[in-house]
Amino acid sequence: MNIREKKISEILSYLEKIKHPGSEHLYSIHENSKFMKSIASFKSFLDWIKNEAPLINKDKVSELTDIGGSNYDEELHESLIKLERGFIPGFISPLVKKITAYIKESNTPLLIADLGSGSAELSRQVIKKISKNHNKQSITIVAFDNSEISHLIAQKNLSSLKNNVEIVRKKILSECDFLPLTKNGNNTIKVILCSNDIFNIENDFKNIQFDISYHSFFKHHLNKAQKVKLDEIIKKKSKIAFEYDGYHSILGAIIQAVFVWKNPVLLSGAVFSNLRYYSKLELKEFSNDTKVHLYRFGKFLSYRGTYLRIIDQ
Ligand SMILES: C[S@@+](CC[C@H](N)C(=O)[O-])C[C@H]1O[C@@H](n2cnc3c(N)ncnc32)[C@H](O)[C@@H]1O
Repeated sequence: MNIREKKISEILSYLEKIKHPGSEHLYSIHENSKFMKSIASFKSFLDWIKNEAPLINKDKVSELTDIGGSNYDEELHESLIKLERGFIPGFISPLVKKITAYIKESNTPLLIADLGSGSAELSRQVIKKISKNHNKQSITIVAFDNSEISHLIAQKNLSSLKNNVEIVRKKILSECDFLPLTKNGNNTIKVILCSNDIFNIENDFKNIQFDISYHSFFKHHLNKAQKVKLDEIIKKKSKIAFEYDGYHSILGAIIQAVFVWKNPVLLSGAVFSNLRYYSKLELKEFSNDTKVHLYRFGKFLSYRGTYLRIIDQ
């Protein structure tokens, strides 16, 4: 057995172990197991894409990392960091560019919410870019993520930023400890990692308004009702919001599968997230009241398959 085969077999045993009768994830466990078996060869994967993927209920199925605990969180985040840092396709670079341009233009102290921050790679790239240009603004980024593992990874990831970046970890951030924490001196950047549930933001921070909020590769993890709720919260609690995620494309899923074929955890993440992504038609509906831009290609015509939606009040 090679390393890839061993990983597939390990994931299949894990899925079998968490398959308790009555579990709310039985459907997802079943579909993830079928997928894992199909990736034994590229031919059987293509058969799965053709025959099984169209039958999957995208609102009901969850990704491997969203079922039964956090066994594969670390692996997924580490792989995602590599992908997001890569020059090709420049996975999150359109978003980083837009956010940094907005920050520079504002030129005032800013309070930012990074929602579903994960490894905080997006915030890391934003900070790196604004620091390069001798940023003199006081910036506080509150990185919301309800997973403990994500925060550990984010802390390690952000520690590569040098100089005037302060990282604070606070299990549950309240409005009381929020205010002293956000009093930064000039020319300082602070990142507060907290586990507050994003859906409690309105209650937790009644008197606080964020200047900017952003999220990347987060929205597809939510169900329909949560997506609507997230948009409502964002509209109430931030002046401008940047939403970035992939859009649904079967061809895109196949192309991405080729690149991450060796890594079954990332492969399953890429394919199942693609199933859950908004379709282009759904995104078109947003164009009525918000700006939506598709990024089909990245650097050197590499496949990117993402969209950026800007909600500007
Ligand atoms: C795929 S990751 C995205 C990470 C990151 N934004 C990036 O681009 O690499 C989604 C993250 O959202 C977090 N998450 C999911 N639901 C959440 C909730 N209700 N409140 C806070 N965080 C949540 C998960 O723990 C996970 O780390």
